[in-house]
Amino acid sequence: MRLAQKNALITGVAGDIGRAAALRFAAEGATLILTDIDAHRGQQTLEALGKQAGNSIFLQADLTSEAEIVALFEKTRQHVDRLDILANIAGGDYEAMIGFDEMTAEGIARNLSINLTSCILCCREASKIMMEQMAGKIINMCSVNYRGAPTPMQHSYAASKGGVFSITRGLAMNLGMYNVNVNAVAPALVDVAAIKDAVGAEMWEAISTDAASRYPLGRIAKPEDVANCFLFLASGESDFISGQIIEVTGGARL
Ligand SMILES: NC(=O)c1ccc[n+]([C@@H]2O[C@H](COP(=O)([O-])OP(=O)(O)OC[C@H]3O[C@@H](n4cnc5c(N)ncnc54)[C@H](O)[C@@H]3O)[C@@H](O)[C@H]2O)c1
Repeated sequence: MRLAQKNALITGVAGDIGRAAALRFAAEGATLILTDIDAHRGQQTLEALGKQAGNSIFLQADLTSEAEIVALFEKTRQHVDRLDILANIAGGDYEAMIGFDEMTAEGIARNLSINLTSCILCCREASKIMMEQMAGKIINMCSVNYRGAPTPMQHSYAASKGGVFSITRGLAMNLGMYNVNVNAVAPALVDVAAIKDAVGAEMWEAISTDAASRYPLGRIAKPEDVANCFLFLASGESDFISGQIIEVTGGARL
């Protein structure tokens, strides 16, 4: 068991990638603090762990609220005696399908809030615990779009993930002396219901087929491909890796 005796907080567990990470971490023996703004689907993820749930819990939180983030980590401290792993997965593009000339301050703020500010604040709260215990692993969710959106859309999302790239590298340098590793995972297109639902079946077919034809491995990612990378970065196998942004893109250089 690669995460035996480890406690991990995972955000975004109502989504496909967060759920896949929860299932993977639990199968490797971790006790989980699962969180999401969507309590109904978050609870379903906890239930999906079955017998592997053990002492794991689900806590609802809106990660765009600093107060709720602070409360989440306080409750985490009350539930477990250590926090070994933080997997910051919650996020998404909330200004999708918007051309550059249509961007609004509100849409930009929303993307920065859920993808970047929440990530930084969760890192802040986790690092307080991890610095005290002189050990920990933080894994942030980036995106290949951190290099800049390749289309006329997704600019505020790309900028927010560029921020995740930056905070990951910076914190890795700051927290290394406390034996805390900070890394990020940067997927290309992943097969998730959230995007399918947002764009509709026909558009999804076009987008995913086009992406698969451009990725050298000939397909887009499954949520499990991304969860496996989170697991590697959470496990002892990555003990000497920090400050890295690992691209899960099937070989594509977007
Ligand atoms: N799907 C892709 O192609 C892809 C590619 C690269 C990166 N990512 C990243 O992966 C992560 C997970 O995305 P996904 O594809 O599984 O989508 P998803 O929408 O299924 O999952 C995102 C989760 O975040 C939660 N969330 C949103 N706002 C929240 C808030 N204010 N507080 C707490 N939780 C909140 C949602 O409820 C949802 O469960 C995101 O950070 C996304 O940017 C996705």
